[in-house]
Amino acid sequence: MNLSIAAVAHSYGDLRTIERLDLAVEPQGVVGLVGPSGCGKSTLLELICGLLEPSAGTIAVGGAESANERLAGCAYMPQRDQLLPWYSAIDNAGLALRNRGQSRAQARESAAALFERFGLAGFEASAPQDLSGGMRQRVAFLRTLVSGKPVLALDEPFAALDAITRGEMQEWLAAALRTDPRTVVLVTHDVEEALYLADRVAVLSARPARIVAELRAPHPRAADRDAAITDPAFVAVREEALRALHGGSR
Ligand SMILES: Nc1ncnc2c1ncn2[C@@H]1O[C@H](COP(=O)(O)OP(=O)(O)OP(=O)(O)O)[C@@H](O)[C@H]1O
Ligand SMILES: [Mg+2]
Repeated sequence: MNLSIAAVAHSYGDLRTIERLDLAVEPQGVVGLVGPSGCGKSTLLELICGLLEPSAGTIAVGGAESANERLAGCAYMPQRDQLLPWYSAIDNAGLALRNRGQSRAQARESAAALFERFGLAGFEASAPQDLSGGMRQRVAFLRTLVSGKPVLALDEPFAALDAITRGEMQEWLAAALRTDPRTVVLVTHDVEEALYLADRVAVLSARPARIVAELRAPHPRAADRDAAITDPAFVAVREEALRALHGGSR
């Protein structure tokens, strides 16, 4: 399912967050969004998912423009994992399915197969607070994926993790998207993460956000992350993205 953002603007009252922004993502394409803190990245994801309405311009998910249709096409992984502490890991993972009318047993069954694949087998009954940070992120991502929605809006999915776990989780997400491709908008403050996971990276300006550069990733979702991110072509694009991010001052 494709995603199209055309001449979109948004403000919270007098606070302008997004200014005439255009972005198109092809079906099963992955676009990374990087930008300064507070520039409007999370706001843009909420606009895409139909949780907010633009003040100008149009957003279409699979050609559908209404907020309800956008909501139906998108799964949103918010910036904080927001697992419910009183539900087990597997019931957290199946939440989107329960919300769509499946029984608890059905939702558990659908989520169970992914628990195995995501290295979470044996932790189905654990409370979220008893899982490691990386495992919590995997449960939160699993909940996003199991919804079956064609478009994933991921807001800093690995921000809470240490560097080693973060690299492992990036490889893991790359593999998950190779097996189960979706149209993805990935917000991150990490240029390297964006360039490794996405086909294209859009660099946003400070608020109100607009796109100041769009860069093509040299080795999107490569199986060998270490080789991909040390490749000279990758390093050159990363430098270019950082220059755009810092307004040409580097
Ligand atoms: N519900 C809201 N009402 C009013 N202002 C808001 C609301 N949500 C966010 N803002 C403001 O809008 C601006 C953009 O916020 P947003 O969360 O989209 O930025 P962000 O790029 O995701 O930031 P970060 O990198 O810190 O996650 C910020 O100045 C923020 O304080
Ligand atoms: Mg944010």
